[in-house]
Amino acid sequence: MNKFSIAIDGPASSGKSTVAKILANAFNFVYVDTGAMYRTVTYLAIQHKIEFSDEDQLTELIRRYPISFKQTKEGQLVFVEGEDITQAIRQADVTAAVSEVSAHRKVREELVEAQRRIASSGGVVMDGRDIGTVVLPKAEVKIFLVASVQERAERRHKENLERGIESDLESIQTAIAQRDYLDSHREVSPLLQADDAIRIDTTGMTIEAVVSEIKDIIHQKGC
Ligand code: DC
Repeated sequence: MNKFSIAIDGPASSGKSTVAKILANAFNFVYVDTGAMYRTVTYLAIQHKIEFSDEDQLTELIRRYPISFKQTKEGQLVFVEGEDITQAIRQADVTAAVSEVSAHRKVREELVEAQRRIASSGGVVMDGRDIGTVVLPKAEVKIFLVASVQERAERRHKENLERGIESDLESIQTAIAQRDYLDSHREVSPLLQADDAIRIDTTGMTIEAVVSEIKDIIHQKGC
């Protein structure tokens, strides 16, 4: 088997995207950051002054403004209507509202369809909250990454400082705990470990160690 799919789920800042990108490079697969898709709808809602509670208008935004990804040496870029919004979708205003936007059933249906289309020919590493449970239930490899709230907040805080972004550890910790709660308790496709997913607690582990453990799992599965 050489065009299998890898689903990586887990809470905010659990290291999913870093690990997913390394695996995509290693296998020459396409990396799909589904969180970026929910963030894009949220960004568009802010730009177009659409209420985060307006499910129909939010869904209409997805239809009207298709999202595209571009893989570059510097990482994955996100575009809408030719505009590079890679940085914009990581800003605090988007992060604060994305859990509300992503809780709408119609928004999820629309984006899940797009995600399945991208993954239809295999050879993908997709990260998110519902990949192993809803988007790609038949994915050959399913990983569920977790880490303590404290460790995730510390990683994010360090990352911010390295990027020269102002950062406060305590507020990051509160925001992560709140997003965990909202993502896990929403009615539609909450963050949930698939029965056949392998759980890795990355607290205290290096990225290299996590990647190596996942490669072992892939190998054991005979992919
Ligand atoms: O992974 P992230 O922090 O960029 O994701 C942003 C938000 O999008 C997250 O709080 C929940 C939502 N999300 C989701 O509901 N389902 C996904 N598959 C991916 C992200």
